[in-house]
Amino acid sequence: MESYILDWANLLLRWLHVITAIAWVGSSFYFVFLDSSLTPPQDEDLKKQGVSGELWAVHGGGFYHPVKFAVSPPRLPEHLHWFYWESYTTWLSGFALLTVSYLWNANIYLVDPSNPHALHPHAAIAAALAFLVVFWLLYDGICRIFGQRERGDAIVGALVLVLVCFAAWLACQIFPGQAAFLLVGAMLATSMSANVFFWIIPGQRTVVKDLQQGRPVDPIHGKRGKQRSVHNTYFTLPVLFAMLSNHYGWLHSHAQNWLVLILMMFAGAAIRQFFVMRHGFKLGRNPHPWPYALAGVLVLVATAVWLKPVPKAAAAAPVASAAPGAAPVAAAAGVPGYEALGPLLTQHCVVCHSAATLAQKNVKLDAPDEIKQHATQIYQQVVVLRKMPFGNPGALSDAERDLVKRWYEGGAPIN
Ligand code: HEC
Repeated sequence: MESYILDWANLLLRWLHVITAIAWVGSSFYFVFLDSSLTPPQDEDLKKQGVSGELWAVHGGGFYHPVKFAVSPPRLPEHLHWFYWESYTTWLSGFALLTVSYLWNANIYLVDPSNPHALHPHAAIAAALAFLVVFWLLYDGICRIFGQRERGDAIVGALVLVLVCFAAWLACQIFPGQAAFLLVGAMLATSMSANVFFWIIPGQRTVVKDLQQGRPVDPIHGKRGKQRSVHNTYFTLPVLFAMLSNHYGWLHSHAQNWLVLILMMFAGAAIRQFFVMRHGFKLGRNPHPWPYALAGVLVLVATAVWLKPVPKAAAAAPVASAAPGAAPVAAAAGVPGYEALGPLLTQHCVVCHSAATLAQKNVKLDAPDEIKQHATQIYQQVVVLRKMPFGNPGALSDAERDLVKRWYEGGAPIN
């Protein structure tokens, strides 16, 4: 029952999280586009009011004409729209989802029994939370110290890159790949929301208060807010990759998974840079940013080539060294039947998938009819995605995965 309730919580939170993330990332992309596409106002009236840029757009049957006041407008309108719930609800739903899936079942999700550096489940929960908090403190410290200096953006960029690489490496040493990738994404996303919560919105509140009370407005608030908002835009693609990566076991279970994560996130940030600069290129403000897109795509292609599966002949080698006590590997020629598959599932899967005790995702693998019913899922999880056995506590060998493959491709016989 508990796992059924958690499954529902997981589903509803994930749904909410995706919706709010679309709203947040969508508005963030829109404002980056808007800001980079502004041109000096044509109208004398607008110039007199202190408008620094304008945009004309057509959308959904109407024409739009947003204008930007560099520091502040001459007077405040009655209704001022704020953008923060998109960010806050994305973080809150994401954190709740992290809790019901990863933290609640820390012993399964955050601890890899075959990893010598694995932590006790409680320590793993603390470490996961520390990733979110410590990264924010360090990143925020870097921005505070170097952000306002000359060439500050370049220094901050370089230091944050080093920090993210180190965090990715460390997470992959401590946590199973799936959790490590997700936590690095959650860590960046937490800092994105914290940027909104601790800098962007408070800065805007100060400006609004100054305007209301007729005090001069300090442009530093706008500058700082803009700086954090630019960082957020470079984090979006890497974060979305990290969030989606948990569907791809062959990515996050790779021996050098930390490098896979860094390369993929780097490619995401480079591609984002291409899109950001494209707006400026259209207005003749900077050269065509194709080198960024090319760099991102080359990194993706290089990663794909690097990770390509080992050819059959080489992969067959571990047969002889299959772990002692491993399920019997049926003769390579024939289709393995239930007599070969049953013991393999009992040994490697039933701890987490049994009718009597725990049945993760309601998959029970101790009865032939259930096995038949889940045949395709078993094949997908064990052979294609290599996600199961989760954390591979019993060291399922490649030869055993091959047995599952031949069983499935031979019609998944239950005899
Ligand atoms: C240590 C516990 C554990 C072991 C061992 C394990 N699983 Fe799982 N299994 C899980 C968890 C946890 C999930 C839910 C995965 C998720 O949410 O991504 C799951 C999900 C699944 C699913 C459903 C996937 C889906 O979302 O459709 C299948 C099928 C599956 N396991 C098959 C197997 C097979 C086959 C084995 C043995 C070769 C195995 N599992 C071993 C924990 C385990």
